[in-house]
Amino acid sequence: MKIHSALRKRRGTPCRTDSMRPRFRPGLARHAARLCCIAGTAWLAGCGSGGDDATPTGQTGTTAATPQPTAAAQNAALIAAGKEIFRFDTFGDETFWSDTLRMHEVIPAAVDPATALSVGLKVDADALPAAVVDGIRNGSVGLKRPDTTVTLLKLNAVVGLRGKVETINGKDTLTRVGVTCALCHSTVDNSFAPGIGKRLDGWANRDLNPGAIIALSPALSVTMKAVYNSWGKGKYDPRFNLDGKNGPQVIPPAYGLANVHRITSTGDGEEVAYWNRYVAVTQMGGHGSFVEPRTGVSVTNGSDDLVSLKLPALQAYQLSLASPAPPPGSFDPSAAERGKLIFNGAGRCVTCHSGPDFTDANLRLHPPSEVVSEPEPNGAPSYASRSATRQYRTAPLRGLWQHPPYFHNGTAPTLEAVAETYNSRQELGLTPQEIADLAQYLKSL
Ligand code: HEC
Ligand code: HEC
Repeated sequence: MKIHSALRKRRGTPCRTDSMRPRFRPGLARHAARLCCIAGTAWLAGCGSGGDDATPTGQTGTTAATPQPTAAAQNAALIAAGKEIFRFDTFGDETFWSDTLRMHEVIPAAVDPATALSVGLKVDADALPAAVVDGIRNGSVGLKRPDTTVTLLKLNAVVGLRGKVETINGKDTLTRVGVTCALCHSTVDNSFAPGIGKRLDGWANRDLNPGAIIALSPALSVTMKAVYNSWGKGKYDPRFNLDGKNGPQVIPPAYGLANVHRITSTGDGEEVAYWNRYVAVTQMGGHGSFVEPRTGVSVTNGSDDLVSLKLPALQAYQLSLASPAPPPGSFDPSAAERGKLIFNGAGRCVTCHSGPDFTDANLRLHPPSEVVSEPEPNGAPSYASRSATRQYRTAPLRGLWQHPPYFHNGTAPTLEAVAETYNSRQELGLTPQEIADLAQYLKSL
């Protein structure tokens, strides 16, 4: 019982974080134990049994004679820990979202739930107690009242936002707010109402307008607000705050990456954890460091590190997220069969979109001259030119039906438009029927 004995040893002693260095492929048990330590056993599903372990009366209590947990069990604990981090961890980024951007002042003043839903924020129906559900249904919990947003934050029901709500003068008051990965990379299934339902982790929130949300901050200049407001729904520029160039990127899914070792549209990192560190520190404002000599980016927030130790679990969770299958009836199977022949034949798609994940990313990247999605719209500079690799990764084709628009800059609104773009840019000479069939095949992936 490596996890449990590690926990026992640590019990009563403060967690040691100073000597811990980020490692991408660490021993699972070591990291699970460390995570339990930093997170506190209460909130970490995978650590619950660790608590039981120390209690002789615990139903699931283990003894010295109990066999070691399998690698699968350890991985399951790591994934469970990663899920909590993905959904709920701010890495201390309240320093940015509250102290700098003062979003905790804006929300209670101006953001009622109807407004929040209109900028694409989602509400986790499972976090709502029955009384609140009834209140929303019968109108007594007003979706036009900013204090309802504070109530939802207190319930931890707004996907990707963490609020600290304290009672001040007898009133629930939002004193801090931060963001989590789920803000951009989770949505909900709308099962309760539009924008309210069960969480779908890894699904890009293409309704979210992160620029419009950031632009609400009273701390920004008019010029900065104009840039943020120019991005629009489902897009975010994860380099603007560092290089000052404006070229928003489509928020991609965080699922279907298990075997892909080039991360982001430019393949900047070989593991998800590379980019997770980048975003957590340089974009979300989490406490920790990110250094990349290839782009000259070097950012350190705070004097503590609230990111490194969480990366292995966070990565394990994302790698566990499979692409969603196309809904029944969403494509024409016989047209898709014909489209597959085009994909592998006259379309030459398979020359880059090869293998089970439909990408050659693990072997090579492609210069912008080979890619049909440049030049960028609105005169923006080449996104590749702003990246560490200066090239593009052949996009793995995963759950394509789920996440229009396509290409890193969202220039193809539909899969028909993708097929049409390849046909004209690469002079494939496909007939309209062949283009339509190819699009049906893409919808089936
Ligand atoms: C404000 C919105 C936003 C937040 C918050 C955010 N991301 Fe992203 N994420 C993006 C955008 C935009 C990209 C595309 C970057 C690119 O391709 O250059 C991206 C890319 C990624 C990718 C690469 C996907 C691929 O196909 O290779 C992963 C994985 C990812 N994010 C995970 C995370 C995790 C984990 C967190 C929390 C630590 C996070 N993101 C927070 C917007 C966001
Ligand atoms: C030279 C290599 C190459 C060839 C050939 C190629 N692709 Fe691509 N494909 C890429 C790259 C690189 C990207 C990522 C471009 C971007 O993000 O802007 C991409 C992106 C895509 C996307 C968007 C995925 C997303 O998540 O947004 C689709 C769909 C696609 N290709 C389908 C096709 C089809 C269909 C063909 C054949 C007609 C084809 N590709 C041929 C390299 C290629």
